[in-house]
Amino acid sequence: MFSNEEKNAVYKVIYNRRDVRSFLPAPISQDVIHNILNAAHQAPSVGFMQPWNFIVVSSGETKEKLAWAAEKERRALAIHYEDEGEKETKFLGLKVQGLQEAPITICVTCDPTRGGSHVLGRNSIPETDILSTACAIQNMWLAACAEGLAMGWVSFYKKNDVRDILEIPPHVEPVALLSIGYTENYPAAPILETAKWEKRRALEDLIFKDKWGKK
Ligand SMILES: Cc1cc2nc3c(=O)[nH]c(=O)nc-3n(C[C@H](O)[C@H](O)[C@H](O)COP(=O)(O)O)c2cc1C
Repeated sequence: MFSNEEKNAVYKVIYNRRDVRSFLPAPISQDVIHNILNAAHQAPSVGFMQPWNFIVVSSGETKEKLAWAAEKERRALAIHYEDEGEKETKFLGLKVQGLQEAPITICVTCDPTRGGSHVLGRNSIPETDILSTACAIQNMWLAACAEGLAMGWVSFYKKNDVRDILEIPPHVEPVALLSIGYTENYPAAPILETAKWEKRRALEDLIFKDKWGKK
């Protein structure tokens, strides 16, 4: 179905995709934004419920408000890291800056009521709606990388702050704020790895045979 070259391109984008924090102000064409959103919309979803919406924010004023919500949360989180001299929250601070720098922010939402109360397959594990939304976000991330664009995921904010700013109804979950733009420094490795925070675990350690823990 796929040539070797095509197959390699898929793996290349999977291995090279990175979470990015700094952006250039250069605008993104509408076609490219549409490509990325269309990639998201091809994601798998439980019972094919397609629970997502995409709020594409380009207004500077609204981006400032979103950055304020994230900054407020960053300061609240700093309490947990008092002993370490806020080293941890410094990284989150860069994310807040990214929200202001990037030409667009996309808020991806999840509507748990879409498809009615008996979405096929969602009865047993209700959070499969959020998982479906995460699949859409990963598609966006890969598509953005293939388009030469950088994307950063921001998940530290109070959901009600984001609901207020973007006028999202109370039953709809703001799952992610995604900063998207071009960057001068697309990281070669996860930034948290370069900063010696955490490194990728060995895959072999994570694979069990037949039973949990059995190697
Ligand atoms: C569900 C989810 C939420 C995330 N939230 C944040 C966040 O709030 N702030 C942040 O700096 N990075 C966030 N990230 C990005 C991760 O830190 C990043 O993916 C991880 O360090 C691995 O780096 P890589 O994406 O470049 O491989 C999030 C990623 C995921 C999947």
